[in-house]
Amino acid sequence: VENIGRGNKWQGTKVLISAGPTQEALDPVRYISNHSSGKMGISLAEAFYLQGAEVTVIAGPMALKPAFLGIHWNKVVSAKEMEEACLREFPNSDWTIMAAAVADYRPAKVASEKIKKKENTLEISLEKTTDILANLGSQKRDHQKLIGFALETENEEVHALDKLQRKKLDAIVLNSLKEPGAGFGLETNQVQVFHASGERHAFSLKSKEAIAQELLDLFQSWK
Ligand code: CTP
Ligand code: CA
Repeated sequence: VENIGRGNKWQGTKVLISAGPTQEALDPVRYISNHSSGKMGISLAEAFYLQGAEVTVIAGPMALKPAFLGIHWNKVVSAKEMEEACLREFPNSDWTIMAAAVADYRPAKVASEKIKKKENTLEISLEKTTDILANLGSQKRDHQKLIGFALETENEEVHALDKLQRKKLDAIVLNSLKEPGAGFGLETNQVQVFHASGERHAFSLKSKEAIAQELLDLFQSWK
């Protein structure tokens, strides 16, 4: 039934998409996380699926779900779990899009019991998580395409281009939090795309679904 109405532009292509935030436990009842809703990743997954791709999503904790049962849907919680799932799926993937907002740091120790309220201040020690995308970039084979996202609030272009190069990506999608109407939890976003070749594209403010469509068309031109 789900094949009805699907296009074929991405038929035969395996697409891996990470989406949403991660949660890093502090104790049995608390965690560190961020405001990612997973909307951009899901919109991309649906757009690829509707053009015939075989789509696998690695999803952090989120309320949203894709509209199609044919999309392979893997839930994870922590950056560590997201890393394991991405490493497992990556060798099998033709196009990988890392849209997840992976935590950069996790609590160095997870308390086994609820942390009790005591002093006026509490210090929590954090340790770096693995950069999943950089890791995938270093494993990437010639036929594989790897796309990252970047979220910046200053020197946006410089930082995005640095990530593009450092993580060995084919392209990076820069999310601007500065633009009114763009960002976490909103229906709209404004992005710029930088390709490793130097090619660049600026999209106007529009719905995340519309951005997903435009990104797909752009990716199509790089096949
Ligand atoms: N990313 C990742 N693993 C991490 C952190 C980030 O795979 N531990 C990926 C994100 O999914 C995104 C890209 O790296 O595709 C850029 O994420 P971003 O947070 O913008 O950049 P960072 O490299 O984490 O640097 P910073 O947060 O300091 O800007
Ligand atoms: Ca980060």
